[in-house]
Amino acid sequence: MSPSLMALSRDARLVILTGAGISAESGVRTFRDGDGLWERHRLEDVATPEAFRRDPDLVHRFYNERRRGLATAEPNAAHRALVQLESAWAGDLLVVTQNVDDLHDRAGSKHLVHMHGELLKGRCLGCRTVVAWPGDMDCDSRCPVCPTGGMRPHIVWFHELPLCLDPIYEALERCDLFVAIGTSGHVHPAAGFVEAVGPRCRTLELNLEPSRVVSAFQEGRTGRATDLVPTLVAELLS
Ligand code: APR
Repeated sequence: MSPSLMALSRDARLVILTGAGISAESGVRTFRDGDGLWERHRLEDVATPEAFRRDPDLVHRFYNERRRGLATAEPNAAHRALVQLESAWAGDLLVVTQNVDDLHDRAGSKHLVHMHGELLKGRCLGCRTVVAWPGDMDCDSRCPVCPTGGMRPHIVWFHELPLCLDPIYEALERCDLFVAIGTSGHVHPAAGFVEAVGPRCRTLELNLEPSRVVSAFQEGRTGRATDLVPTLVAELLS
């Protein structure tokens, strides 16, 4: 076990940030690897409010395709190891995911926030109510709450403010261990979370390759999430 983890008490507070890399081995493609998810669609063509105003049908088609893709994806050993840690850990544990898939949810994570929204939810353009939306969405989709509202994917697009930032920063300031798993460090504010932790917090990055912000971490381990995360959980619970 690395020195930074040995001194950790069993009621230490943990914050775990995950990105697309934790879902890669479940068959959900990441954003910036070679065959990146965005390749067939330029970012500007899909994941922005402007794109939705300009071509809502294209944006709906893109997210419908991703939503359907989830049906064949299953949580992997990394998602499951985090659930095992959550249930066995005496201290606070919060998983902050940038992912919009439901793999952490299906694995059983309870203390979980989706800071970039959720693929299986929709949001009314009128009353802004967020509702479960497992099926396709299009320009004729209507809000189940208010009679007038059209619907948009409950996804945080570029230039929009991520969700739950206040509780996330509160948890970061208090935590004793911050772990980032499967994220490239390209997109803020998540890429800056490692700089927002307190002075005594241990920091660890688990990634297939060193991320853009690996130098900000006290320790970096490279490998696949389905190897690194169960190993880390075994260390913490030993
Ligand atoms: N195990 C661990 N890490 C992996 C694996 C794996 N099996 N496969 C890929 N990775 C790593 C890659 O090396 C990369 O550093 O996961 C990271 C994925 O990076 P991105 O594709 O940039 O995904 P992410 O960091 O989650 O993107 C953040 O950007 O496009 C926006 O809103 C979108 O939430 C997304 C945000």
